[in-house]
Amino acid sequence: MADQHADGSGRGSDPTRRSLLGLGAALAGGAGAGLVGYGVGVTRTSPSPAPAAVGSSSGIDGSEAAWATAAEPFHGAHQSGIRTPPQAHATFLALDLDAGSPAAGRDGLTRLLRQWSEDASRLQRGIPALADPQPDLAGPPARLTITLGVGPGALTMAGLADRAPAWLAPLPAFGVDRLEPKWSDGDVVAQVCAEDPIVLAHAVRTLLIDAAGIGRLRWLQRGFRRPAGATSTMRNLMGQVDGTVQPTDAEVDDLVWVGEEGPAWLRGGSSLVLRRIRMDLDTWDQLDPEAKDQVIGRRLSDGSPLTGTKESDAPDLEATAKGLHVIPDFAHVRHARAITPREKILRRPYNYDETPTGSQTADSGLLFAAYQRDPIAQFVAIQRRLDGPDLLNVWTTPVGSAVFAMFPGAPEGSYLGQALVEG
Ligand code: HEM
Repeated sequence: MADQHADGSGRGSDPTRRSLLGLGAALAGGAGAGLVGYGVGVTRTSPSPAPAAVGSSSGIDGSEAAWATAAEPFHGAHQSGIRTPPQAHATFLALDLDAGSPAAGRDGLTRLLRQWSEDASRLQRGIPALADPQPDLAGPPARLTITLGVGPGALTMAGLADRAPAWLAPLPAFGVDRLEPKWSDGDVVAQVCAEDPIVLAHAVRTLLIDAAGIGRLRWLQRGFRRPAGATSTMRNLMGQVDGTVQPTDAEVDDLVWVGEEGPAWLRGGSSLVLRRIRMDLDTWDQLDPEAKDQVIGRRLSDGSPLTGTKESDAPDLEATAKGLHVIPDFAHVRHARAITPREKILRRPYNYDETPTGSQTADSGLLFAAYQRDPIAQFVAIQRRLDGPDLLNVWTTPVGSAVFAMFPGAPEGSYLGQALVEG
């Protein structure tokens, strides 16, 4: 009668009741102290569980897709998650550092960066975090990347404001902005991306557990792109092929990574401008398909410019028909296009789709993530040109905005941001 229930009902084989009994016994035996301690600054000293079985059977259906078992490197000259081909799912989260806590200031920031780097280096390999409460969710890694950076407030609170690059500040105001504090700014950012939303959710929760006592969540924004394995350029929720024109491999060193002009701790890093841009899909869908093509200057059907036939064709801004520009004067690509070789950004946008309110049928838009060496010379220069004549502004509204300095990669044996907080 090993399974006989304590109440004599003979229902001991009920797995739910049995596991609850097991948990009760564990709590009575003292494990409760460890549970209660989670997230309130306990030292994580448990032995490392074995790595997830990357590349082997999941134990459920006996096989994993290649994207599920693929891992992105943590160590290297640059952080993963910037030039990494975008994964299907992303969560961006920003913390406000706790000014009043004993862990405030440089010590707190150092603890956070050490802990988050440890988490990233393990989770990106599909290995559970130290004392991971859900180790089964850590693998396979599904191309997880955790990319970290700091906003101006973190440097001020850590007494390091004199090391901030001149551009590390909120962007200048634009006429199109309708910014809401709940989507803007922040002291520390993590961009967490993965092909598998379960792996992603687990990584995000791990970061939040490890931030306890150091910082509080300011905002969290979730986005998605094409599913893993898709090879065509993604579409945004206005239906457009989005992400065609990007810096070439040869341009990346000049356009994305901070060089000698930046502070020593940031060389090899980048800047992230994250804009939450709401789309008014209900009025957008009142346009006919030709009008939609004209707003961008490219066709919805295949992303080709109105002056070409293939997505890869360069738009011809001079071409005319019946005395008018084929790509209209109000078209988005006309104003977004680089005027100098410097005015290019690496776009890594994600769609968002939240619960509509009132008579809306969608609360959708873009988490417009742009990486560049210098946001003023690059992002701001483009946004200034878009701020007015770009007809796309009729259907799109920036409601959130934040700028972060994104650390260079961590060499073996070091953690992200070490050169800032220890340098
Ligand atoms: C919801 C807002 C936006 C939407 C829906 C949107 C959509 C698009 C689309 C469909 C294209 C053409 C295909 C491509 O090259 O990817 C494009 C191009 C581009 N967009 Fe946007 N965009 C938005 C906001 C922005 C913002 C805020 C910026 C920068 C400040 C920007 C910069 C660019 C650039 C640089 C290009 C490439 C232009 C070229 O060289 O041809 N976009 N955008």
